Amino acid sequence: MQRSFGQQLDLNDKYDGTTARRHEVLNMITTHPPTLASQYAIATLTDIVQHRQSVTWTHHLYTMAHNRIPRTLSIGDSITNVHNFLFQQARFASTKPQAADNTKQIAMVTTGIVGATGLAYMAANQVSANMADEGLHPPAYPWYHKDPFHTFDHAAIRRGYQVYREVCSACHSLDRIAWRNLINVSHSEDEVKAMAEEVEYEDGPDDNGDMFQRPGKPSDYMPKPYANEEAARAGNAGALPPDLSLMIKARHGGEDYVFSLLTGYVDAPAGVEVREGLNYNPYFPGGAIAMARVLFDGLVEYEDGTPATASQMARDVTTFLAWAAEPEHDDRKKMGMKAAIVLSGLTLLSVYIKRFKWAPIKSRKIVYNPPQ
Ligand code: HEC
Repeated sequence: MQRSFGQQLDLNDKYDGTTARRHEVLNMITTHPPTLASQYAIATLTDIVQHRQSVTWTHHLYTMAHNRIPRTLSIGDSITNVHNFLFQQARFASTKPQAADNTKQIAMVTTGIVGATGLAYMAANQVSANMADEGLHPPAYPWYHKDPFHTFDHAAIRRGYQVYREVCSACHSLDRIAWRNLINVSHSEDEVKAMAEEVEYEDGPDDNGDMFQRPGKPSDYMPKPYANEEAARAGNAGALPPDLSLMIKARHGGEDYVFSLLTGYVDAPAGVEVREGLNYNPYFPGGAIAMARVLFDGLVEYEDGTPATASQMARDVTTFLAWAAEPEHDDRKKMGMKAAIVLSGLTLLSVYIKRFKWAPIKSRKIVYNPPQ
C-alpha cells in the first residue's frame, strides 16, 4: 500500500546500490516538503526491503528519517510512523529471506546439486542477520584511529574520560585502567595526581594491624561504583553493568556498536513489547536493554569548548573506551611503521647485493686455456 505513494509521486524508481543514488535519495528527502519526504522515505524503504537490499542502507534511511525529517516536520506523528514502519520492515526483511533460503537449500540437497555448485551458491548468498536476536548491525563509522597512519584522537580521549567520569562511572567500573595510564595520554602528571587524590582508597594494615583510608595515588586503579556484583545488580534492577575496560574488544562491531548503542535509543516499534524496566534499543541483541538512555545534549561541559551534543559525547566516550581496551595502540602503529620502513630498506639492500654483487661472482665463468 505504502508503495503506491511512491508510484503516485513517481519517485519509486529502484535503489540501485550506488553511492550517487544514495545521495540523490538523501537529497530528495532533505529538500522536499516534509510530508512528501516521509512518503518518499517510506516508498524507497518498501522498495528496498521488498528487493532485499542492504541492511546498512535500511539503517541509513532510518538515520536520515530520524535526523532530517523532524527538523522541518510540523505534524508530530509522521516521524514516529516512519520509525515504526522502518523497523517493522527491517525486522520483516531480516527474517523473511531466511525461510526462502532454507527451502532453496533443501531443494538443492534433494536434487543432489552439491560440491562446487553448492559452494558457489553459499558464497553468492549473504547471510542475513536476524536483527531481533542479534541486534541491528551498526554502520561503519570513520573513526580517526582506524586509519593505519593515525594515532588515537587524544583530545577525544580526554573529553571521553570526562564523560566516563561524569556519566558512566556511576554504574560501570573500569578495572584495568590505573590513574597512571592517563599520564601523557589525556592528562599531565600533575592533573592525574590531583584527580587520584580526590578519591579515598583503603590501604594497610598499619603498624597496629588496622586498615586505613588514604588519598589515591597514580598507581591506584580506577575506583569502582559498587563494592561487589550483588550491590551492582541491586542498584540496577537485577542487571549487571559490565566492566568497560575491554568493552570495545568484547563486542562484535567494537566502536561502531558502542556508539550506535549509546545513540540508538528510540521508541519501540508497534508490536514490540518491552518489559517494565527495560528500554528499547535496536542495536542491543534482543532489543531490550536494562541501561536507559544516558546521553542527552549538554549533559557535560567540555573544557575545550566542544559542544557537548549526545553524539559528540558518545563519540568521545567510545574513543576513550577504545583507548582503554588497547592502550598500546599508538605505540603499536608507530613500531609497525618503523619496522615496515627498516625491513623494506633491508629488503631492497639484500636484493641489490644479491643481484649486483653476489650474482656476477657466482655466475662468472673462469676459463683456462692451457698453453699450446
Ligand atoms: C544508571 C546506570 C548506568 C549508567 C549511568 C551507564 N550504564 Fe551502561 N549499562 C548499565 C546496565 C545496567 C547495563 C547492562 C544492560 C543489560 O545487560 O541489559 C549496561 C550495559 C552497558 C554496555 C554493554 C551493552 C552490551 O552489549 O552488553 C555498554 C557498552 C555500556 N553500558 C556503556 C555505557 C557507557 C559508555 C555509559 C556512559 C556514557 C554508560 N553505559 C552509562 C547501566 C548504566
